[in-house]
Amino acid sequence: MTRLLIVYHSQTGTCARMANAVIAGANHPDLGTEVTAKLAREATVDDMLTADALLLGTPENFGYMSGAMKDFLDRVYYPLEGRVEGMPYACFISAGNDGSGAVRAIERIAKGFSLKRVHDPVIVVRAPTSAQISVCHDLGMYMSAGIESNVF
Ligand SMILES: Cc1cc2nc3c(=O)[nH]c(=O)nc-3n(C[C@H](O)[C@H](O)[C@H](O)COP(=O)(O)O)c2cc1C
Repeated sequence: MTRLLIVYHSQTGTCARMANAVIAGANHPDLGTEVTAKLAREATVDDMLTADALLLGTPENFGYMSGAMKDFLDRVYYPLEGRVEGMPYACFISAGNDGSGAVRAIERIAKGFSLKRVHDPVIVVRAPTSAQISVCHDLGMYMSAGIESNVF
């Protein structure tokens, strides 16, 4: 059984809409990957240790990832040191006008964990269109299918 962990934060619901689409894609009925979705403030070290791949979703706040996402990464860093090297990951960002600061911050920290980026960041500026929701859905499917077929 392969496992995908989706950790996300949303203050006003937009990133949660993206996350819901990602989760639906990851749970595609043709795929057998077990999907765990956690709010950043509730996600734990054990969630990470039992996952084969990781998706991080956050709004951009003040040119950075949200405080809750940063708190998650801070909390798990030392307990996971050396234990998740090479884990495939990707991120999705909800932004008001840009999103690049959040991506930069996540990619920098992901390097600290030695995670392996396997998909370009999905950035949605303002409310997601149905096409953007589809992109989020595809991202979830891609990650589930990728770990199931061991291509990462
Ligand atoms: C405190 C705060 C800071 C923000 N800073 C930025 C920012 O630096 N860049 C940006 O593009 N959007 C920024 N935004 C807008 C949010 O990223 C945007 O509204 C996003 O869709 C919110 O996602 P959410 O509904 O999941 O919380 C900020 C919003 C808040 C509340």
